Amino acid sequence: MVDNALLEIDGIDAFYGRSQALFGVTFSVGRNEVVAVVGRNGAGKTTTLRSIMGLTRVRTGTISFGSSRIDRLKAHQIARAGISYVPETRDPFSLLTVEENIMLGYRSGSPYDLKRVVEWFPDLAGLMHRRGSELSGGQQQMMVIGRGLTPGPRLLLLDEPSQGLAPVIVKKVGETLSALRKEDLSVILVEQNLEFALSLADRVVVLENGSVVDQLSAAEGRQSPERIERYLGIH
Ligand SMILES: Nc1ncnc2c1ncn2[C@@H]1O[C@H](COP(=O)(O)OP(=O)(O)OP(=O)(O)O)[C@@H](O)[C@H]1O
Ligand SMILES: [Mg+2]
Repeated sequence: MVDNALLEIDGIDAFYGRSQALFGVTFSVGRNEVVAVVGRNGAGKTTTLRSIMGLTRVRTGTISFGSSRIDRLKAHQIARAGISYVPETRDPFSLLTVEENIMLGYRSGSPYDLKRVVEWFPDLAGLMHRRGSELSGGQQQMMVIGRGLTPGPRLLLLDEPSQGLAPVIVKKVGETLSALRKEDLSVILVEQNLEFALSLADRVVVLENGSVVDQLSAAEGRQSPERIERYLGIH
């Protein structure tokens, strides 16, 4: 647990039908903290983000954001409370332009308008009038991160932003995310790319079979990556 937590997840269980995906998952995210959630395929990373977002119902346990319980709210209410979710399937709205995709959830007063998103992702500058589906994988990733920012969230949930991207694009996405660290924003970064996760995060939560099996600082993780790698099947 961290002092001054923005998000507190306490003992959540989640199910798909009768099959249990999360077992008492407990961790918290501090203000302006970047927490990486790592684990192998099927460990429960996406389910954890979906549970925070109200897209998968939690059966037991609680989730608090700021000073309010959010585990019984609907996804749109959770979004309005200040949480943005960027799913692993990037799902551009293919009939909308890049600009429309980015600005879909913009709320007045948000510090992130189109101009700022383009400052972060200059590669998108010349593409604003294209359709969302007419972008490369890396450009789509930048677009959907932009879409997550424009509502002005206090917490951004990113599901495997490096997935399927060429190393040079991963580097670029990483540079942008590290620039975001200067913002008044907390991030949960789900990743299978441990090196990428450790380069961005303050803390790491390790999931295995739907349970938290370890939590450590990113500095500890960089010092002893084998402590995490054994849960990822990397040898
Ligand atoms: N829609 C679904 N219906 C039934 N079971 C599901 C569904 N989605 C996920 N599961 C199961 O829940 C468990 C956790 O899956 P989850 O998608 O959260 O894993 P993950 O860590 O995100 O994996 P990946 O790295 O492959 O994205 C797995 O056993 C998975 O098979
Ligand atoms: Mg997943």
